[in-house]
Amino acid sequence: MDLLDFASNSGSSEPPLLSALRTATWQRTRHGRLMSDVHTGRVLAMVSRMIQPRIALELGTFTGYGTLCLLEGLHPEGTLHTVERNDELFPLHDEFWPRAEGHGRIHRHHGEAMAVLANWDVETHGAIDLAYVDADKQGVNAQLDALLPLLSEEGWMLFDNTWWSGTLDGPDAATGPKPDALRALNERLRMDATLETVVLPVGDGLTMARKA
Ligand SMILES: C[S@@+](CC[C@H](N)C(=O)[O-])C[C@H]1O[C@@H](n2cnc3c(N)ncnc32)[C@H](O)[C@@H]1O
Repeated sequence: MDLLDFASNSGSSEPPLLSALRTATWQRTRHGRLMSDVHTGRVLAMVSRMIQPRIALELGTFTGYGTLCLLEGLHPEGTLHTVERNDELFPLHDEFWPRAEGHGRIHRHHGEAMAVLANWDVETHGAIDLAYVDADKQGVNAQLDALLPLLSEEGWMLFDNTWWSGTLDGPDAATGPKPDALRALNERLRMDATLETVVLPVGDGLTMARKA
């Protein structure tokens, strides 16, 4: 067993509501692999519990699995904003989210991640304590630029899929808008002295960053 297998198999098991949502996602959508895996979900929940964000933002809701994980640690008076452009997924949210404690604190935005960021008014919506960036990968650098001024003093960002199945490096490295954007993101996060970054070897690569 390697370290990743050990880590994935050794923590707390997936809560029953999330197992049910995982099953429904595979049964009722054609893209179950887009959903956060169990280990990533448990890390999201743990990070959220540690930060206890008053304002959290998820870019890319999909079936709302990551949303429920983040909700676990949301401050009792907090709001969890989540952005999804595909409203065909909303019936799954509406079926599963109401079974979670504190689901009334989820605010779903139907639309484009960049539009929500562009229209975010810190005075009205609040500064963001925790952002989970998991929408279109080609847009991730623009999303980072738009997010930075909206972060609270102690705000944290999480970027998913930064390993991209290990295809970003080497002679046969993947090319195209998504891998190109992720390479640029990784390089930027590594080099930018105004940010503090750590990559967690979780799922498909989960990068945590904050303002230094
Ligand atoms: C990887 S999935 C999100 C998985 C989810 N965060 C989870 O933890 O299970 C990406 C989702 O982002 C949505 N999406 C992609 N680009 C988007 C954009 N520019 N604005 C809003 N939603 C977007 C897709 O429709 C898809 O449902």
